[in-house]
Amino acid sequence: MMWLFLFSGLIAHTGKSVSASCQLQMNPPSVVVRYGDSFSVNCSSLSNQTFGMGWESTDSGTGLRKGVSSITLDIDAVKKWMIEPQCYSTLSDDTQCLTNLPVTVYKTPDSVSLSQLSEMGPMVEGRMYRMQCDIAEVAPAKNLSVYWYKGNEISFTDAFSEPSASPVNKSSFYNVIPKSGDNGTQIWCEAKLNFLPQGSRKQSKPYEVIVLYPPIFDKPANETVVVSAGEKILLNCAAKGNPLPKYSWHLPKPIQQMHKNRNDNQLILTQSLQFPGNYTCTVSNTHGTKVKYFTVTEAPSSHPGTTAGILMAVIFVSFFILGCVVYHKQKNSSVTSPESLNRGAERLNVT
Ligand SMILES: *[C@@H]1O[C@H](CO)[C@@H](O)[C@H](O)[C@H]1NC(C)=O
Ligand SMILES: *[C@@H]1O[C@H](CO)[C@@H](O)[C@H](O)[C@H]1NC(C)=O
Ligand SMILES: *[C@@H]1O[C@H](CO)[C@@H](O)[C@H](O)[C@H]1NC(C)=O
Ligand SMILES: *[C@@H]1O[C@H](CO)[C@@H](O)[C@H](O)[C@H]1NC(C)=O
Ligand SMILES: *[C@@H]1O[C@H](CO)[C@@H](O)[C@H](O)[C@H]1NC(C)=O
Repeated sequence: MMWLFLFSGLIAHTGKSVSASCQLQMNPPSVVVRYGDSFSVNCSSLSNQTFGMGWESTDSGTGLRKGVSSITLDIDAVKKWMIEPQCYSTLSDDTQCLTNLPVTVYKTPDSVSLSQLSEMGPMVEGRMYRMQCDIAEVAPAKNLSVYWYKGNEISFTDAFSEPSASPVNKSSFYNVIPKSGDNGTQIWCEAKLNFLPQGSRKQSKPYEVIVLYPPIFDKPANETVVVSAGEKILLNCAAKGNPLPKYSWHLPKPIQQMHKNRNDNQLILTQSLQFPGNYTCTVSNTHGTKVKYFTVTEAPSSHPGTTAGILMAVIFVSFFILGCVVYHKQKNSSVTSPESLNRGAERLNVT
């Protein structure tokens, strides 16, 4: 440090400062190093008028070495969170050149964990919950990214504006408004220093979300069920919900020939023609109640009596028209023998 002050004073005194010929090249140009690890950097002067070179650093320097155009800084073990080595050169005309080496000293987090989960319990659909992720002893926090996963997707990314270069504890908060479909989904957080590769990320244990929500019908609309003779009727009232919903049915009249399936969510009517009317299914759990209406009607064309009636009417009309035609023809040709009339009638009867 002392040397640095002298050096600055020297620049001020000589009145000569950094000029265009002052070109110092670092290899590598910047350093990212884990706390406690080693690194080495080569600094070379691009001027052919170089008189001497040196490295100045808080814990180790090289001093001025005359007659060299490149000089290497070797640090065995980084033991400070903030280091700013500087490479300098002196040219033969007394020009002083100085370049800082950017160094990032890092430490990956000791732990990443979700906290205060015990206070959370099951979540209620539509309410907001604040989740907390604690990242212990990470440096530098300004380069920390926290990813919140819901299912397998990143749903929130957090960053920090932390001036300290030494390790700190950080907490990230994520607001969740659960939907019914989120029941059973896992939420976790992940911390990563963003200059490190994917492999260096650290994840919290996942938290499995339980969402309480009112019943939702699988098929939401009211249904009109048209039945033909002999068919069974299936009224499907199945709904999702947490806790599991209970079903109750309201029937137009007491019915003997019916079953319910195991969950009560389907009503099966046999002998369909006896049961037209309005059926109501009520589904409820601790978070709500939903009602679905079924209208059961008979298919008109499927009634055997009606079909036969229509058929007979059609036949009757055909016969009538045919009879008229035959009669008309006979009248025009002036054939009035009762035989031919009888034949016509016979033909009608036979057809
Ligand atoms: C430093 O760089 C210079 C110029 O690229 C090269 O000549 C020299 O050998 C290097 N020194 C070390 C120790 O890598
Ligand atoms: C760390 O973060 C700062 C501020 O966002 C950024 O300028 C710097 O380049 C980052 N360091 C590295 C090594 O990526
Ligand atoms: C971070 O938290 C741990 C545990 O609570 C504590 O021991 C440590 O001192 C904290 N570190 C900082 C930098 O505050
Ligand atoms: C909600 O999720 C829990 C945990 O995965 C599961 O046991 C339960 O059956 C689910 N409930 C519903 C209604 O999806
Ligand atoms: C079902 O019918 C009832 C009563 O007619 C009505 O209040 C309700 O809005 C209908 N629901 C749907 C989803 O159409």
